[in-house]
Amino acid sequence: MAHEPAHPAPARHVPVLLSAVLEYLAPQPGQTLADVTVGAGGHAQAIAQRLGASGTLLALDQDPTMLALAQQRVYPCRVVWCRAKFDALPAVLAEQGISALDGVLADLGISSDQLDDPQRGFSFLHEGPLDMRLDPTANIPTAADLLARLSERELADILWRYGEERYSRRIARRIVQTRQRQPIRSTTQLAQLVRSCVPRSGRIDPATRTFQALRIAVNDELGTLQHFLQALPQCLRVGGRAVIISFHSLEDRLVKQAFRQGDRWLVLTKKPVRPDAAEIRANPRARSARLRAAQLLARAS
Ligand SMILES: C[S@@+](CC[C@H](N)C(=O)[O-])C[C@H]1O[C@@H](n2cnc3c(N)ncnc32)[C@H](O)[C@@H]1O
Repeated sequence: MAHEPAHPAPARHVPVLLSAVLEYLAPQPGQTLADVTVGAGGHAQAIAQRLGASGTLLALDQDPTMLALAQQRVYPCRVVWCRAKFDALPAVLAEQGISALDGVLADLGISSDQLDDPQRGFSFLHEGPLDMRLDPTANIPTAADLLARLSERELADILWRYGEERYSRRIARRIVQTRQRQPIRSTTQLAQLVRSCVPRSGRIDPATRTFQALRIAVNDELGTLQHFLQALPQCLRVGGRAVIISFHSLEDRLVKQAFRQGDRWLVLTKKPVRPDAAEIRANPRARSARLRAAQLLARAS
């Protein structure tokens, strides 16, 4: 996922923690791996190089625009493209006749390419509609719909739970007051509203947490991650590896708990792997990345 830095980075998404991904996923020639958040294909291409001509990469994304972008790269292995949400991985494997994977990568959240497209509504730095659907064709309420329909209490709960926003009630009240006069439809309108009722502290824009919370709510990101984590043990062979990169503590907590469950996983990362100062300098959007990896010890029946 990408975080908004004070100054926007160039449009193309830079894969985060790439060497740690390759180290923990350890792709070998001829294996079958899945990148379930293929995005712009940066990690996928590096994995494909390790898999070689006899290997297979299952490349998933729920956003058709990102799949099209990833398809512009050259991959030296067989690639099976799939437009799906990653919690549908067991169904995708069944459809493709793949009985078990050697490894799975999930790099959660959104890509810089999505963040920087004003029409997607993810960024408070660009004027655009408050959409925020990861699949822009999905028949689900947009961020603007949530702001228009939810009660003050429901809005405050979303900001508190998914954004850990301490001024959640104050922002929710201001949203409800504002929408009585005019609908809240644009990114900059919402960002201004938040900035007008939350004190600024440090370099992070006060709108950051509200935008994160709405995006998580619109896409049910935590529910989807939970289903995916439950399904993972049916998708890997024994000894297969899972590498997950998360970008906020709510996601990271779910990953940590899933890998600690019973005797199913051998955890390969005692502590989450974080980007070093050089990577953060080169790619400020990597700053909150946390990578956890585990190896499957026993398959789910
Ligand atoms: C951080 S980007 C991945 C970047 C990629 N690793 C690269 O190197 O370019 C996350 C991608 O995951 C996709 N995504 C997020 N949640 C998803 C889900 N539940 N199912 C499938 N794709 C998802 C987004 O559309 C986005 O393209």
